[in-house]
Amino acid sequence: MSLKNRSKGLFWDYYALFYDSLRGLLPYQELLSRTVKKLCIEKGKSIRILDAGCGTGNLAGVIFSSQRDRVVLDGIDGSSAMLQRARHKSLRCDGKIHHVRGDLNEQLPYVDSSFDCTVSLNVLYALQDPQRVLQEFWRVMKFGGLLVLANPRVKPKMRDVILAHIRMAVRLGWSKGLSLFVKNLFSFPLFLFTLVLNFLIIKRRAAKNQYHFFDAESLEVLLKNAGFRILSSELAYGNTDIFIAATKILSHTNEQGDLLTAEVAHSKEDFMRIYRLRYNVYCEEMGSLDPKDYPDKLERDRYDPFAVHFLLRKDDEIVGILRLIPETPWGFLMEEAFLLPSNLDRARILEASRLVLQKGVRGYDFSRLLDEAAELWSLEHGYTMWCLTMQIHLFPKRKVRGWNIKKLGGVARYHNTEIIPVLRYLIQT
Ligand SMILES: C[S@@+](CC[C@H](N)C(=O)[O-])C[C@H]1O[C@@H](n2cnc3c(N)ncnc32)[C@H](O)[C@@H]1O
Repeated sequence: MSLKNRSKGLFWDYYALFYDSLRGLLPYQELLSRTVKKLCIEKGKSIRILDAGCGTGNLAGVIFSSQRDRVVLDGIDGSSAMLQRARHKSLRCDGKIHHVRGDLNEQLPYVDSSFDCTVSLNVLYALQDPQRVLQEFWRVMKFGGLLVLANPRVKPKMRDVILAHIRMAVRLGWSKGLSLFVKNLFSFPLFLFTLVLNFLIIKRRAAKNQYHFFDAESLEVLLKNAGFRILSSELAYGNTDIFIAATKILSHTNEQGDLLTAEVAHSKEDFMRIYRLRYNVYCEEMGSLDPKDYPDKLERDRYDPFAVHFLLRKDDEIVGILRLIPETPWGFLMEEAFLLPSNLDRARILEASRLVLQKGVRGYDFSRLLDEAAELWSLEHGYTMWCLTMQIHLFPKRKVRGWNIKKLGGVARYHNTEIIPVLRYLIQT
């Protein structure tokens, strides 16, 4: 390790002695709780989170403060003193938190596609090559996974954090504000000292170009170059941080030179576009569903809340969609028309449905990326088969394109169309 890197390491070890006094700082508490909200951790959902530059483990503290029995968190940090504190705090978490000491400037010690979510709060600025680090985050994340990132914006001012703290304390009201004031009376000088130390060192290192601060646009460009799509970009931590949520996407340039991207839908706006596109195609174009059943011109059903929805974009515009549904309380959608064999391992099956490509982009060249993305998501999440219905003439075409499929029954008429039930194996059988 070079002398310069050793002195940086010593700085973080020293900082660890005071770091937790920041827990009394309301903008810091708010940053942690806002991060947890972005992660959308649903009850009972199994997810694995990477906290890159986990410090003393405060994010884990917030995540596990409520019942999250199926969440696993991996914290990585370069400072042994920070990690010592993080490990101590995690003792109550029954082996759901794993810590490792590692340098984020190096390759991460995790195999590809290990994590559903990655979080990195106020760490990127201190690393040598932020672009390369974001590429590493992309590598260790699953397709469709969420990245939550906070990084100081250009010329962050300590004054803004203190003012935000006071404003938040006032907003809490007299009784809560007063008890917070009394609680912080003794720790306040310490966290003020910690904050000043942090900002002074940050300022000095930024002046020497050792630290990297970005405005929102530049950070978004780095994320896009690394293979993420930005879901939201806000200010946080007393407006001194750029706070971004992004998702891992796949891109491909087709033979016509179009840049296509595939992603998992996350935002409310994207869901509205999906339902509108389905309405356009199924109700207006094909007439297989009755428009009267969808007065808001959004075609959705009871299976949608359980499904994962995939988007295909061309030049940023949504041109294709597909959804995968795990077994629901009503079984699979296709069981409304067909009986599935009783010996299927239903926990490993997803039903593929509502594949829609916009007019003008209807060819294998376009659908291939959507298909590959959905297949990748399925395998990364432990599903090995798709069940689906298709028009009979498509069956041989899919076989030619390498789909390992078999018919599960004869032709039936459903929503004005002749279809057959099919099982597709995603792995060699
Ligand atoms: C400002 S603290 C943030 C800690 C934590 N994310 C939080 O929000 O409380 C920055 C953290 O990044 C870690 N760090 C800095 N450079 C690092 C590197 N090259 N490799 C791993 N961790 C590093 C430090 O040890 C420190 O714990």
